Amino acid sequence: MAKTLYVRSGSEEHELAVTDGTIRASDLRRISTDAGPLATYDPGLLNTASCRSSITYIDGDAGILEYRGYPIEQLAEKSTYLEVAYLLLKGELPNAAQLATWENEVNHHRLVHENAKDIITKSRYDSHPMGKLMSAVASLHAFYPSSRNITDACERELNMVRLLAKMPTLAAFAYRHSLGRNYVYPSDELGFVENFLSMLFKRQERHFIADERLVRAIDVLFILHADHEQNCSTNAVRAVASAGNDPYTSAVAGIAALFGPLHGGANEAVLKMLSEIGSVDRVPEFIEGVKAGQAKLMGFGHRVYKNYDPRARIIKKSADEVFEVTGVNPRLAIAQELERIALNDEYFVSRKLYPNVDFYSGLIYEALKFPPAMFTVMFAVPRTAGWVAQWQEGVLDPEQKITRPKQIYTGLRGRDYAALDAR
Ligand code: SDX
Repeated sequence: MAKTLYVRSGSEEHELAVTDGTIRASDLRRISTDAGPLATYDPGLLNTASCRSSITYIDGDAGILEYRGYPIEQLAEKSTYLEVAYLLLKGELPNAAQLATWENEVNHHRLVHENAKDIITKSRYDSHPMGKLMSAVASLHAFYPSSRNITDACERELNMVRLLAKMPTLAAFAYRHSLGRNYVYPSDELGFVENFLSMLFKRQERHFIADERLVRAIDVLFILHADHEQNCSTNAVRAVASAGNDPYTSAVAGIAALFGPLHGGANEAVLKMLSEIGSVDRVPEFIEGVKAGQAKLMGFGHRVYKNYDPRARIIKKSADEVFEVTGVNPRLAIAQELERIALNDEYFVSRKLYPNVDFYSGLIYEALKFPPAMFTVMFAVPRTAGWVAQWQEGVLDPEQKITRPKQIYTGLRGRDYAALDAR
């Protein structure tokens, strides 16, 4: 395994240390080129490590995902989202006393300031809930100005819990606002997921009772979506954090990035794709269109996983449990036929395109009667645990500086200003 990289440049010999499979890009500056000190060019950061992190481990070839060293399969089977959020933030699973304190703390912070609620209420009823969420979360630092003291450990802890606790409330308010319904406030009698379902779906009944199987399915989905190392939205959170921002302001960047159809917006795009295909017998025609470059197979492919996304495997199991309660989503057959064909077709196999976390999750959310516009909100709520854990790790990393990449300039140079009548 390479420990040193030997680089010859003209008459110069350079030795570059290789650590953890990387060279420090700044070491390259020792090598001069006709464009100045040598740098790397890596659009999309395909082959660039931006940080050291101990939160999430992924082996894309082997299809391995671990949070703080615990396999996602074990956490999905045995843990809860709140317990996993504690693990991501603090690095260890809580004991019974720590978990009880943690759950009480999150419960305590589920309410939002009425002015933050009003931001959602004042938005267009039919604006996308991700936009409503961005606006409301962007306002939160104003209610907690001391959250800007990011070097204060107590402030960091308090505002990470506040954000984690308030996301379901804001998400539910955004949903109810789109329906023109009254808001349901958090209830201390309900656990994290049940309370979220109550804020979303409670009507006039005195007590909201959710089917235990649905509560468990959402808890598992939340565990699966909690973190995923340096994905696009987490990278955005870290970049905004690197300028010295509080967790609320940094999380807005995460919500914005996640909204993209190539990222968290893919679950909404999958359902749109399935409804456009319409029936199983039209799948082959759609697949030919993808291979001809006319469309992407949404919910397939991944920057890191060149194997089956382990989360997609678990979500498929959760889907069966949800469909026991809701009835099978008729689009499931189309999704299964798409997967069957794609996994055997050279175009997808050669590009190592497998179902990712977004391929089946939308089918569950649709079966739970969420509108497609809410699917990415269902991704943003649990991903907040990962965003705040990564935000804090970046803030505390002594190696981190404000994110400011280089560029390769391709424009014109040294032009003289021309007066208006001379143009
Ligand atoms: C998430 O990073 C994370 O961890 C993200 C995430 C998380 O938890 O945070 O896992 C969540 O974002 C999952 C991904 C959800 N997105 C989608 O399902 C959208 C569809 N997928 C693609 O757009 C794509 O696969 C990406 C964006 C996910 C990954 O893109 P890459 O790594 O930049 O790969 P690429 O675009 O360079 O593709 C390589 C080849 C290309 O073909 P050629 O140009 O070589 O001929 O594969 C093709 C692509 O055209 N390809 C696809 C495809 N994905 C890649 N072809 C058809 N359908 C697809 N979905």
